[in-house]
Amino acid sequence: MSQDIWNAVDSYFLSKLMPPDEALEEALRASEEAGLPRIQVSPAQGKLLHLLARVHGARRILEIGTLAGYSAIWLGRALPKDGRLISLEIDPRHARVALANINRAGLTDVVEIRLGRALDLLAVLADERQEPFDMTFIDADKGSNPDYFEWALRLSHLGSVIVIDNVVRAGGVADPANDSPEVVGVRRLVDLMAAEPRVTATAIQTVGLKGYDGFAVALVVDEIEPEAAT
Ligand code: SAH
Ligand code: DHB
Ligand code: MG
Repeated sequence: MSQDIWNAVDSYFLSKLMPPDEALEEALRASEEAGLPRIQVSPAQGKLLHLLARVHGARRILEIGTLAGYSAIWLGRALPKDGRLISLEIDPRHARVALANINRAGLTDVVEIRLGRALDLLAVLADERQEPFDMTFIDADKGSNPDYFEWALRLSHLGSVIVIDNVVRAGGVADPANDSPEVVGVRRLVDLMAAEPRVTATAIQTVGLKGYDGFAVALVVDEIEPEAAT
């Protein structure tokens, strides 16, 4: 069992369940053409995010790590017309490609890309005291996952869902010899989720076009107290 069969099965489901889609395909083409890394979620994963957002009735979504806007298109399409997806991206080149892709997908009014270090932008978001997010997708530099999780929690409400991509990393998370910053970031994230009484969480291993990896899902099960103004 390996990559060839995983690809074939992903392609099979793709051909049956995800009809050809101009905006998504164009987004991938533009990303490729601009030389961006090919690390966006797979079509099946993108559709899962989309379905999760719809099942949840999300109106406000936060994404950390935009890249070319591929996952943002899937998530943005799950929102009602007056919904909002705020996506954070550090690389201006990525943000530029993403903005064009979002516009082509007809999501200009729903998706907002903010440029900068996610940790800085998250502090700004907290200062703005906007409504909390119903859903957060964490998919940026994996070493910062623990910080991103803490911020996502602060910006959540009872019932919000937090999804974290790439928590398996070809099994690295359970390999005691692997102490890369990415894997350490994931383990610290998992420890945080385990110790945090305000969430209940699981993690799912996946195979497919993105190799062997996985994602975690946390549900906020307690009130998040609004912070006192400073
Ligand atoms: N969610 C996207 C993929 C994101 S790839 C999709 O599935 O389509 C990770 C992105 O996070 C990259 O574009 C990278 O530039 C961005 N990133 C890395 N470190 C960051 C940081 N500190 N702050 C904000 N974005 C960051
Ligand atoms: C990498 C990052 C991702 O977000 C992903 O889905 C796959 C790989 C990476 O940095 O290697
Ligand atoms: Mg990812």
